[in-house]
Amino acid sequence: MDTQLARLHRGAPPQEDSFADNLLEGLAKAPKEIACKYFYDEAGSRLFDAICDLPEYYQTRTETALLARHAGEIAALIEPGAEIVEFGAGSLRKARILLDALDNPRAYTPLDISGDYLAGVVQSLAAEYPTLTLRPMVGDFTGPLDIPTLPDNPRRAGFFPGSTIGNFRPDTALCLLRRMRSGLNGGGLLIGVDLVKDPSRLHAAYNDAAGVTASFNKNLLARANRELGADFDLGAFAHYAPYNAGAQRIEMYLVSLRRQRVSLRGQLFEFAQGEPVHTEDSHKYTIESFREMAARAGFNPRAVWTDEERLFSVHWLESR
Ligand SMILES: C[S@@+](CC[C@H](N)C(=O)[O-])C[C@H]1O[C@@H](n2cnc3c(N)ncnc32)[C@H](O)[C@@H]1O
Repeated sequence: MDTQLARLHRGAPPQEDSFADNLLEGLAKAPKEIACKYFYDEAGSRLFDAICDLPEYYQTRTETALLARHAGEIAALIEPGAEIVEFGAGSLRKARILLDALDNPRAYTPLDISGDYLAGVVQSLAAEYPTLTLRPMVGDFTGPLDIPTLPDNPRRAGFFPGSTIGNFRPDTALCLLRRMRSGLNGGGLLIGVDLVKDPSRLHAAYNDAAGVTASFNKNLLARANRELGADFDLGAFAHYAPYNAGAQRIEMYLVSLRRQRVSLRGQLFEFAQGEPVHTEDSHKYTIESFREMAARAGFNPRAVWTDEERLFSVHWLESR
């Protein structure tokens, strides 16, 4: 089967250019910042997979168990013959649970910004599901969602697991949900959302003992060195991920451990000792606050599944 990646936005600049532009702009700001979507080159995607297996990272285990436990109900809501469009597909591990439960899925369209990694995992999926139509697409789902319609125009259903929605500020998350709704042409969205909980549990999940999340965070700097010829000293930055209880979000930073200067594409950037670079937010919701946002985005929140400890939630949102 042909599993060549299509581009989500024809004519979009190559990833390295937009990463360079984002870094040059973000490091010139006060406070400094780098957009979290640039975590995900091939090395970053592999580090994220390692995070998913950590004992502290309850999110993947809990969401996977919810999907497996409720697969039959989910399949009934999605209906037979649907095209599944997955936003930020990653390893495709969760998609397998869905694909196994669905009645005769028409096609599977995984979208991800991490093109080399997506190409590899799609090859393995194609070998396991030889009769399934696969339409992998590389690109940024925060841009226009130009997903070509199949000739027989099957009903679409979106799949957005991993609480990736939490990486957006609530106002941006609302706009993203609205645009996903219109990209789904009237189809519903199955979405995983991490829940507000004991701050120490959240803190542990983003500050694992093995230091994998720290390596994932620092991959931004390693990637800048690899791809853009920057000279970040990875040992001179620390991973810092506190929980901001007022804003109900984990905030992730790289903190400069000393006064230093970094060169990037002919420009020099000064870092004071203790200066933070913001790299990610991970917003947490209550079931009610997320359903409210989904309704404001034009969805009709229907089923919601959660675990006994109410750590994580999976929602089925119908388009209105
Ligand atoms: C938190 S991980 C979740 C991965 C997987 N869906 C899961 O549930 O384990 C976020 C995924 O979304 C992708 N991603 C992040 N920002 C993106 C963007 N703006 N456009 C497309 N993909 C993006 C990343 O490459 C990564 O695979």
